[in-house]
Amino acid sequence: MTQTKLPQTKLTARNVDVFYGDNKAIDDVSIDIGNGVVTAFIGPSGCGKSTFLRSLNRMNDTIAGARVTGQILLDGEDIYDREMDPVALRARVGMVFQKPNPFPKSIYENVAYGPRIHGLAQKKADMDGIVEKALTRAGLWNEVKDRLTDAGTALSGGQQQRLCIARAIAVSPEVILMDEPCSALDPIATARIEELIEDLKSRYAIVIVTHSMQQAARVSQKTAFFHLGRMVEYGDTHQIFTNPREERTKDYITGRYG
Ligand SMILES: Nc1ncnc2c1ncn2[C@@H]1O[C@H](COP(=O)(O)OP(=O)(O)O)[C@@H](O)[C@H]1O
Ligand SMILES: [Mg+2]
Repeated sequence: MTQTKLPQTKLTARNVDVFYGDNKAIDDVSIDIGNGVVTAFIGPSGCGKSTFLRSLNRMNDTIAGARVTGQILLDGEDIYDREMDPVALRARVGMVFQKPNPFPKSIYENVAYGPRIHGLAQKKADMDGIVEKALTRAGLWNEVKDRLTDAGTALSGGQQQRLCIARAIAVSPEVILMDEPCSALDPIATARIEELIEDLKSRYAIVIVTHSMQQAARVSQKTAFFHLGRMVEYGDTHQIFTNPREERTKDYITGRYG
């Protein structure tokens, strides 16, 4: 393994707790997430991966009863500050979900929607350029360029997920959060998304939740292992999978529980 140089920190979480009512789902998590690398969150079902991921772009704000304490900084800026607009934040920290969820609109409109509400294009030609660039970056342009007015929902599952990635990219995010983005996809579509993540990683900070340890090992440079709401171990992916420091990490990666 070659030593990668220390990535520039994009997101910092300090002593983050997340509650659903009285139930503490995330307990005292602190982590620095680097720019230009892929960070994987792994751990058994229900350990809090999605909950913690959602705290990174304030998606938990939309869940009744959810409460986040501690600090999360994006380039040093507190994302829970009263001055922070959550809609603007979610453009900077985009999200891709488990099930592809294109809007019931055309392929073009799925991508143009975000740039329009954020006022990123003055003219039709500008918007056309943004849409083409986002679809190209998401590896979908050649497949859809002649059918941009077709419904997004008419695409295959894998194409829909790339459309959702294009939609996130279109508003020029700095961070892309992906919550098990391949769990509804077949192996070929999964491989395309993994290649895409590799192509995108130099431009963004990417965080991917995955239940597949093989996927984490393939796509990520950093891995955080969660268990029962705590982050048990965080380090270089290679080290986590070959030489974990913690017994609980070792038990998980050797399949003792899942
Ligand atoms: N919307 C919610 N309301 C109440 N409890 C929730 C909600 N979402 C998740 N939880 C609880 O928080 C814990 C962590 O869940 P989650 O973050 O979904 O774990 P993971 O993504 O690792 O499977 C679980 O105990 C789960 O039941
Ligand atoms: Mg989850």
